[in-house]
Amino acid sequence: MLTENAEIISNTKLKDEYYKVTFRASDIVSENILAGHFVHVKISGLEEKILRRPFSVFNVVKSDVLEIVYKVVGAGTKHFSSLEPGVKCNILGPLGNPYTYPVNSEIPVLVAGGYGSAAMYLIAKNSCNPGILLIGARNSKELILIEEYRQLGFKIKIATDDGSSGHKGLVTDLMEKYCKNQYKIYGCGPNPMMYTMVRMLNSRSVAGELSLDHAMCCGVGGCYTCVVKVKDGRGGWKYSRTCKEGPVFKSSEIYI
Ligand SMILES: Cc1cc2nc3c(=O)[nH]c(=O)nc-3n(C[C@H](O)[C@H](O)[C@H](O)COP(=O)(O)OP(=O)(O)OC[C@H]3O[C@@H](n4cnc5c(N)ncnc54)[C@H](O)[C@@H]3O)c2cc1C
Ligand code: FES
Repeated sequence: MLTENAEIISNTKLKDEYYKVTFRASDIVSENILAGHFVHVKISGLEEKILRRPFSVFNVVKSDVLEIVYKVVGAGTKHFSSLEPGVKCNILGPLGNPYTYPVNSEIPVLVAGGYGSAAMYLIAKNSCNPGILLIGARNSKELILIEEYRQLGFKIKIATDDGSSGHKGLVTDLMEKYCKNQYKIYGCGPNPMMYTMVRMLNSRSVAGELSLDHAMCCGVGGCYTCVVKVKDGRGGWKYSRTCKEGPVFKSSEIYI
């Protein structure tokens, strides 16, 4: 884990409220970033709101370039979207417990909601086999990065709440047929979606790796603001830090 004053190379609208920011961050990129790692960004010019904001690493390009895809949801991300190339932001990372990549004949099935397709892109990029992206959104305008996955040979299945693209309903509706052991299931999306996945996977004894999103302060394990319940191995539960033991947890470990 390192901190670096990383320079913005570009910061452009991807689609709807989603933006892609590209940083030159050679020190952090040298740290072997894996899918599921996140960075804690001090958004330049947002000094009165002192907390850093956590963002998953979307992509690593060359030996010194790191990309994040983010949605504007509040003051921090709105200000982030106004930053121009040349501005520097202090970045802390890579942080957290990452996903493990597929091995041998495992076929990855990535179940994505919200920014999930960005957070899991490095799985697709580093997978030994092409897989399937199950992607859900409120409507077709919020579906992001589909072409990037297609270019990696992934099949795409879509669900939207309003039926404007693909299946009308929840992305987890598309999961049933992949709850088999030849597939390796991954998830990232809003927590209610993650907990639906936990129920589906655990009731069928299928393994999965899920990234849980929780508001964070320190991002490095010191403040315990980011805890979620995990199984304690004795039939009960204990707290675990999303920033340190997570954000990626085995679905079998998550306590509901
Ligand atoms: C490990 C991790 C990885 C993340 N990766 C990404 C990513 O790749 N792309 C991306 O767009 N976002 C990601 N997020 C969420 C992102 O950190 C928040 O959207 C951001 O901090 C909001 O900042 P803000 O100042 O704009 O919003 P605020 O003004 O702080 O909040 C605005 C609204 O967003 C809600 N909100 C704030 N933080 C979160 C959160 N963590 N989860 C859910 N709702 C929240 C608030 O409750 C409020 O309703 C990630 C979060 C975590 C914990
Ligand atoms: S954010 Fe401080 S312990 Fe996780």
